[in-house]
Amino acid sequence: MKFIFCFLLLSLTIFNLAAKGLKPVYLRCEYKENPVTDAAAPRLSWELTSAENGQLQTGYQILAASSESKLTESLADLWNSQKVNGRATSQVEYAGKPLLSRQICFWKVRSWDKNGTPGEWSSTAKWEMGLLDKKQWIADWIGLDLDNLGKGKTYHLPPAPYLRKTINIKPGFVKARLYVTALGLYEFSINGKKTGDDFLTPGWTDYDKRVYYQTYDVTSQIKAGANALASQLSYGWYAGYLGYSLLVGNPVVRTFYGKVPLLKAQLEVEYVGGKIETFATSGQWKASVGALLESDLLNGETYDARKEFSGWNIAGFKDQEWQNVQVYPDKADRQIQVYPGPPVKVTQTLAVKNTIARPEGSYIFDMGQNFAGIIRLKVKGSAGDTIRLRFGEKLHPDGRLMTENLRMARATDTYILKGDAKGEMWEPKFTYHGFQYVEIKGLKEKPSESTLTGLVIGSDTPKVGSFETDNKMINQLYSNIDWTQRANYVDIPTDCPQRDERVGWTGDAQVYVKSATFNRDVASFFTKWVVDLNDGQYENGAYPLYAPRPNLRKTDTFSPGWMEAGIICPYQVYRSYGDTRMISQGWPYMVAFMDFLEKRGKGNGVFKEKSFEDIDPKGGFGDWLSFGKKTPPDMLASFYYTYCADLMAEMAGAIGNVKDQEKFTSTAAKVRKAILEHYTDASGRFVCDSAAYGNGAGYVDGQLGFTGNTQTAYANAIYMNILSKPDQRKAGLYLTELLEKNGGKLATGFLGAKPLLPALSSTGHSDAAYKLFLSKEFPSWGFEVENGSTTIWERWDSFTKEDGFKYNAAMNSFSHYAFGAVCEWMFGNAAGIQASKPGFAEFDIRPEIAPDDLGDGGIKHLKASYHSINGTILSEWQKQADKLVLKISVPVNTVANVYVPGKMSDQLLVDGKKIGSSAFVKLKGEQAGYVILEVGSGSYSIENKR
Ligand code: BGC
Repeated sequence: MKFIFCFLLLSLTIFNLAAKGLKPVYLRCEYKENPVTDAAAPRLSWELTSAENGQLQTGYQILAASSESKLTESLADLWNSQKVNGRATSQVEYAGKPLLSRQICFWKVRSWDKNGTPGEWSSTAKWEMGLLDKKQWIADWIGLDLDNLGKGKTYHLPPAPYLRKTINIKPGFVKARLYVTALGLYEFSINGKKTGDDFLTPGWTDYDKRVYYQTYDVTSQIKAGANALASQLSYGWYAGYLGYSLLVGNPVVRTFYGKVPLLKAQLEVEYVGGKIETFATSGQWKASVGALLESDLLNGETYDARKEFSGWNIAGFKDQEWQNVQVYPDKADRQIQVYPGPPVKVTQTLAVKNTIARPEGSYIFDMGQNFAGIIRLKVKGSAGDTIRLRFGEKLHPDGRLMTENLRMARATDTYILKGDAKGEMWEPKFTYHGFQYVEIKGLKEKPSESTLTGLVIGSDTPKVGSFETDNKMINQLYSNIDWTQRANYVDIPTDCPQRDERVGWTGDAQVYVKSATFNRDVASFFTKWVVDLNDGQYENGAYPLYAPRPNLRKTDTFSPGWMEAGIICPYQVYRSYGDTRMISQGWPYMVAFMDFLEKRGKGNGVFKEKSFEDIDPKGGFGDWLSFGKKTPPDMLASFYYTYCADLMAEMAGAIGNVKDQEKFTSTAAKVRKAILEHYTDASGRFVCDSAAYGNGAGYVDGQLGFTGNTQTAYANAIYMNILSKPDQRKAGLYLTELLEKNGGKLATGFLGAKPLLPALSSTGHSDAAYKLFLSKEFPSWGFEVENGSTTIWERWDSFTKEDGFKYNAAMNSFSHYAFGAVCEWMFGNAAGIQASKPGFAEFDIRPEIAPDDLGDGGIKHLKASYHSINGTILSEWQKQADKLVLKISVPVNTVANVYVPGKMSDQLLVDGKKIGSSAFVKLKGEQAGYVILEVGSGSYSIENKR
């Protein structure tokens, strides 16, 4: 009896300790849950929960084993890390037995808390190794050349091939994996069922250098006996139309990498006892032309359902009439690797909001939201009835679909009915459009709401941010930013989803990357794209205008403000996620880029006027789409040079490269000094030799003239720390002066808009930043919202009430995220969430409270949350009559410096109590209108007198 009692007491104590300890959750490998990877030392991460405040991890232990049952300390056959002291919960490299191809690794982790008490083990997670050696690919590249069937004057759109093979699987299999990729796009099915739910696989890369593959667990899709392997291929980025090449009269407009889309796939079936049988693409496969008559990313699909072969993708189909596929040689130095990014998927479906009848029996469907995706069509009719769908972002005032801004992208889908009495359903497979409105022609009966469904597609980056206020306009703006990100993060960060572009413009990507991190987890998305950037680097070291880098126009090369993406994106991934692998792997590329800058600068340290005269447009794109006189592009290039050198010095430090750290620190100092000497006058204003640019011919908007004294110049100089502290303050004043002179309006373009509000805030002009942020007058973020936008526009005046769509046939995208880079200020300043250590292991919450004098147009309540790699951070503030209430959350294993607006007094309360009553909230001091508290993990309500 006594024994039982003791036992009970003991187990209760153990239970209690465990409940009190740290619990690891959200186990990930290479930023993904239970992924397939080919990283030699996969990186593991977890997040911690605790019932207590002020908790930290002091150590962890990881077990990895070849089966779940072996996941015990004594049996773990792959790795027992033993207790490792420290706070690391992410970027922890697997360091067990070398991993083999196809190996499945189960793992779990436990953590010790700050008192040295170990917590419970996590639940089990796993990862699987891909094919680590190219030689393990026995599959051939196969395809069917249908190019000569392409017709049409403007567009050469051949049909997309169908491929198939029946195989025989023996009884007694235990596991099956499909490894599959394409040069072009593929959809694969086994026994009539699509493998996986990814879209636009295998993604866009420089196919001469590398192609990615997908791995699917298809164990439940196969059966003993006859099975059908089937695939449809399309031209995609490999062989289809790309960018504006057609528009600008480039000699090549499609087939940038190859002419015939090709498939490579192998199904590996493992039987009891471990024997593996592989069924691979080969010359034995059959192929045919089918119902998919046209299939192109930019131009859309044409599908003739009358030409479907029923049962083509199941066993038993008679394919004697089909042709033998053609086998194509591989390129020896083309790498074949696991797709590192988040898959592109249908992430949401949208119902039609409104149906508008148009003349001649056509209709326009309003989806209520501008997005990137496709539609699902449900119709009934007779064989041969033809439905034509066109896509647009806006309507003309007279109700017509506005398609001029698509330029040469035909963006038209056509469905020809087979006449099924039960009705027919169709959705395209290898195209997507940027749209809110769909025009439909050819319907034989009145449409209903189920005629169309919108399928939102994009890279499936987990949502990590939320931003809400009591100001409707701002809430809409935030929604617009997130939708625009979703519409453009489609395998690569594109500029826009609708017109004949949709390429990975580096300038847009670099100005927006920090904003992106606050909305969605983009760690693996950039892991993929930074490789594209490095693959696209020119021999001289310059990063390209867009990555991947097909030659869309002969004169496309590089540009200041764009090429720096090669440094800025990896840096941001390091700051947001603590990722140093991207830095070490990319280091040679980044150093080559810095060497390129050094050479270009001819040892001057600064790029004097006309340093980039030889590129097209001259000087590069500069502060693209700004108003008024242009900021000299060479001056901006010099700022970026300093900035990149600073980032390189910090990144060198992060990977322990002291030599390069010193080198880049001195480069930054040298360029800084040279900039001040060359580009400022005695009063510290920015100046330039505008005469050097002559009449500006060849420069973007060069006819407007050049001056150093612009909003963009000061905003960037402040943001990039070009100036000394006192000069920084002066620059802040010059910036506000310029704003006032301009009627309180911004004049910034792509390069100036991002730093504008942060620069105002950091020089003590938060009120001015809020004024711009909350303005509804043209040009402003609010102006777009006032005009009914559901996404961010390319131009501040993409549409105005006075001029309508004045830029239509040129560049007028309604889904362009560059100006959405204000998001960085929304989270970083308005909510005040800033990482002080990489990966938000330590961070500040330093909210800037909106001024009171804005009335209804102001903000009284703001709530932002950000799910960092360490857990969720909350910053919420509410202005009440005489006090300010802050609600904050600090994740376990992190520490925050919370800047409470106001002065230190007895009225500063944390959870209703005076400072000093909680061990986890310490007073650190006062600074510039804030009381600084050091806060340990937990959620707190703080109030202070206003
Ligand atoms: C794209 C951009 C890009 C720019 C280069 C445009 O056509 O849409 O967003 O950065 O060209 O200046």
